[in-house]
Amino acid sequence: MTKLFTPIEFNNVQLKNRIVMSPMCMYSCMERDGSVTPFHETHYISRAVGQAGLIMTEATAVMPEGRISHEDLGIWSDEHTEGLKHLNEQIHRYGAKTGIQLAHAGRKARLNSDIYAPSAIAFNESSATPTAMTLKDIENTIESFKDGARRAKEAGFDIIEIHAAHGYLINQFLSPLTNKRGDVYGGSAENRYRFLSQVIEAVQTVWNGPLFVRISTNEYDTNGSTLEDILYFVRQMKDQGADLIDCSSGGVVPASISPYPGYQLKRCETIKEQEAIATGAVGLITTGLQAEEILQNDRADLVFIGRALLRNPYWPKAAADELGYTVDAPKQYERGWR
Ligand code: FNR
Repeated sequence: MTKLFTPIEFNNVQLKNRIVMSPMCMYSCMERDGSVTPFHETHYISRAVGQAGLIMTEATAVMPEGRISHEDLGIWSDEHTEGLKHLNEQIHRYGAKTGIQLAHAGRKARLNSDIYAPSAIAFNESSATPTAMTLKDIENTIESFKDGARRAKEAGFDIIEIHAAHGYLINQFLSPLTNKRGDVYGGSAENRYRFLSQVIEAVQTVWNGPLFVRISTNEYDTNGSTLEDILYFVRQMKDQGADLIDCSSGGVVPASISPYPGYQLKRCETIKEQEAIATGAVGLITTGLQAEEILQNDRADLVFIGRALLRNPYWPKAAADELGYTVDAPKQYERGWR
């Protein structure tokens, strides 16, 4: 038995294998209203037919001003619930579980309207300067994550992932590069963690299912969060009951990185080993053998597959073939599967 195709359970939700469709923005909401479109259905459902164990939606905005673009998926209104519910029902038919990535872009929103961040510092010369959030703004935003989580539950998602990576709002609070606040939300690692801590707490008042958090484990800047800071954040998340840390990197400040196969794995492995919490590996994982190696060596518990799954919705089948394993076919395809 391969480890890639061994089921795994998080807080009573069982995934049939360790393959996760990594969250990927599709910028495909046609009416600028954040609603699921036929494209989203085709896109996500085909990866479920392709036998990924967990389908994680793209970054889904908890507030309209938290979108990266006007075409982002949203969950800021009760009107979004129905479309997401239908999407979930379809994905579930093919045996995959569903996750939603709850997000707020903060200063990385490109909306030609007011944008918000912990401090009034623009991402780069071509981006707008955000308004520094007041305590009231912070409170409202935390409430929006909670409302998003409630709607996610109503829509039938199995897992919630909080997007605290890639330099979006929560990451902007975590990083000393973007958080220059003088109040209880800025300064020490403990203060910078406070916003995420309160988001998790708020989400947990309406959600008792599995909770994943995606973080940037490396900010590629000597003045950014240190590995010690990151491990501290992970310990706090573990204490708060997070089930898995999805270990990505970058995006906080402009930085040039040269990705190579498994480029984000080292810190993923360190987090799993030092803090004894489940981790998700992501970043240029493209073959079944590579995924199996990561899991067998206990470097991570799940593999998140991004671009390889964009290129091939049947990536799980290709990975199984490589490993000499026979993955079940969707019943409609049984005659052509082998
Ligand atoms: C992404 N990525 C991403 N990450 C995230 O946390 N939320 C998101 O909405 C998106 N959006 C997105 C769109 C597109 C088109 C791509 C290619 C990527 C990052 C993605 O989940 C993944 O971490 C990286 O692509 C690295 O993994 P791969 O692609 O090398 O397997």
